[in-house]
Amino acid sequence: MSDLSLTPDDRVLVLGATGFIGSRLIRELAKKNIKMRLLVRSASKASALVPENSDTEIIEGDILRNENLGKALKGIHSSYYLVHSMGGKLLSQQSDFASKDKQAAGNFVSASDSSGLKRVIYLGGLGETGDNLSEHLRSRMDVAKILSEGKARETFLRAAVIIGAGGVSYEMLRYLVERLPVMICPGWIDTKIQPIAVRDVLAYLVGCLLDPGTAGRTFDIGGPDILTYRKMMSQYAEARGIAKRLIIAVPLLTPKLSSYWVDLVTPVPAGIAHPLIEGLKNEVVCRDNSIEEFIPIQKTSFYEAVKIAINEEKTASGVTGF
Ligand SMILES: NC(=O)c1ccc[n+]([C@@H]2O[C@H](COP(=O)([O-])OP(=O)(O)OC[C@H]3O[C@@H](n4cnc5c(N)ncnc54)[C@H](OP(=O)(O)O)[C@@H]3O)[C@@H](O)[C@H]2O)c1
Repeated sequence: MSDLSLTPDDRVLVLGATGFIGSRLIRELAKKNIKMRLLVRSASKASALVPENSDTEIIEGDILRNENLGKALKGIHSSYYLVHSMGGKLLSQQSDFASKDKQAAGNFVSASDSSGLKRVIYLGGLGETGDNLSEHLRSRMDVAKILSEGKARETFLRAAVIIGAGGVSYEMLRYLVERLPVMICPGWIDTKIQPIAVRDVLAYLVGCLLDPGTAGRTFDIGGPDILTYRKMMSQYAEARGIAKRLIIAVPLLTPKLSSYWVDLVTPVPAGIAHPLIEGLKNEVVCRDNSIEEFIPIQKTSFYEAVKIAINEEKTASGVTGF
């Protein structure tokens, strides 16, 4: 057994455990009796999310401010990296998210290099690597690069929009479709995208931890459907059982204007909406499907993923959200 293999005595650190993905991931890890430690900014927020009877330690700290990272990494075998720095109610509050992302990743690498961490599993964004990449997607790539330069072997999973209740991109789609029978959208409405169900993302995240052969690899992960945002909106309306939406593409609508408009119509603040909307110009389709050789799963269709998300809203089983 290589030292990259997780044993039952090993503990796994989850960064971002209070977020959309992290809060669901800790439930999946608990089902597998994996010992966990969470580094969170609010212990009370995290305590409410920790599954009962799991062996989970909570440490309060902040990655960006380098607070308690060393303590959190002590004795840890593998870590999930599920954090980003986008946020803020106003556009002006999100302008430096890319430098914060770099700073946080750099802090993590310095601390993990001295702790003897073996593996880091990072979930970032899917997209081409050219110059046209949005600042958000560029920042996600920069974080992957910084993490790969540490001593711990990185597994980088690249995903487009993740479909699940409480996911910020999904909630933007949901509120736009539900609240606007007629939509005036920028040119990105016809960009190709390969969304993925949150349950498939979780299967890949857990699968990568349990398969040391995935260490040091980058994988594109996506669902079975390649759609456009226009198709996603019409399939969403169908799954939700609401009337067909009229979508009019207006190429001159800028990302900045769209994000204020998303701010008006949806609960997603402009500080998060803007970088995401800017990224909608980038085609986000899997170019490499080698993950299937390591973790073969029955992929969930977009339509089914939406149905599951709608059901989660009714039962409130989506852990965090709007
Ligand atoms: N959602 C999607 O559709 C999607 C799609 C593709 C890729 N991804 C990737 O998936 C990963 C997780 O995204 P998500 O949607 O779960 O994000 P999220 O819901 O916004 O959660 C972000 C998490 O990061 C934590 N965090 C942020 N800054 C921190 C800091 N300085 N110190 C400690 N914790 C900090 C937040 O803690 P607080 O609770 O304290 O704020 C929260 O737990 C990201 O890398 C993202 O790029 C997401």
